[in-house]
Amino acid sequence: MEDQAEKLREIMKRKKDGVSKNSLSGRAGVKPADKARIITVTSGKGGVGKTNLSVNMALAFARLGKKVVVMDADLGLANVNVMLNMIPKYNLYHVIKKQKTIREILVETEYGISIVAGASGFSQIANMGEEDRRDFISELDTLSNADIIIIDTSAGVSSNVLDFIAAADDAVIITTPEPTAITDAYGIIKIIATEYDSLNMGLKLVVNRAKGAGQAKGVADRMINIAGQFLNLKVDYLGFIYDDASVQHAVLRQKPFMVVDPKCKASICVQHIVERIDRNKIGESAGFGAMLKRLFKSSSNEANVN
Ligand SMILES: Nc1ncnc2c1ncn2[C@@H]1O[C@H](COP(=O)(O)OP(=O)(O)OP(=O)(O)O)[C@@H](O)[C@H]1O
Ligand SMILES: [Mg+2]
Repeated sequence: MEDQAEKLREIMKRKKDGVSKNSLSGRAGVKPADKARIITVTSGKGGVGKTNLSVNMALAFARLGKKVVVMDADLGLANVNVMLNMIPKYNLYHVIKKQKTIREILVETEYGISIVAGASGFSQIANMGEEDRRDFISELDTLSNADIIIIDTSAGVSSNVLDFIAAADDAVIITTPEPTAITDAYGIIKIIATEYDSLNMGLKLVVNRAKGAGQAKGVADRMINIAGQFLNLKVDYLGFIYDDASVQHAVLRQKPFMVVDPKCKASICVQHIVERIDRNKIGESAGFGAMLKRLFKSSSNEANVN
């Protein structure tokens, strides 16, 4: 945690130095939409199920009649398109290099959802500069006719991930019952609490690969209590997903498990999670205008840094 905190302070300092009032008012000409709900999926530890959750949640939302975009914001090791067996011609690399807009690289899938493909193997993108990152996030408004934008991030703390969390209406933290995953999930919750406590976003927890509801609830209760007690932060338990061989099976077939086996335990769990999110309306915090407000507030809110 010491290391993460140090890294974060550095990020926030750069953030503060890089954002001027002028750059904020530069967004004034853009018409904000007020529809898209932005859900960022993140984790402390890698490999705990972010991409599977993002893609399968998208399908569950689509089945509720929503227009959904999944954005693969893993800028170093993209994998949404791999999971869907697609090789889009253009990806975020072209957006960041300003050769394409996000709307231009948006691709429809055969599953009724659209994706924005991430960029694999470009480490310079994973570490893109402050200004480029902000340009890129503000480009998201070109997707504002979507009902739901699900952002699949890379694991852990980076300035990219923090910006995507700041941009979200709901930040979904995913962990497994493994102690290392729990510790790292708590680490990221702590960082979000330190940086964004005034943002009032809904922080939500999903326990993946659980043996059952009891085990998952035990993990969630512990984390929620610690977050409440030590960080004074409210975290909502969104639900769990069974450890289910259908997930690996679907990954190998490069199809979402909601498609391969819509009745498997994991699919039913994801449906419940999505129904819970859908019931929980976001009210005033919704929409792209609010997202910009949150972003800029977080960028210029020096008081939160220490
Ligand atoms: N509920 C589950 N049941 C069984 N296996 C699972 C489950 N969820 C994830 N897995 C396994 O974990 C692997 C990693 O999942 P996924 O790619 O979604 O994780 P990730 O958090 O996106 O990883 P990364 O940090 O590398 O982006 C899957 O390929 C699958 O084998
Ligand atoms: Mg992933």
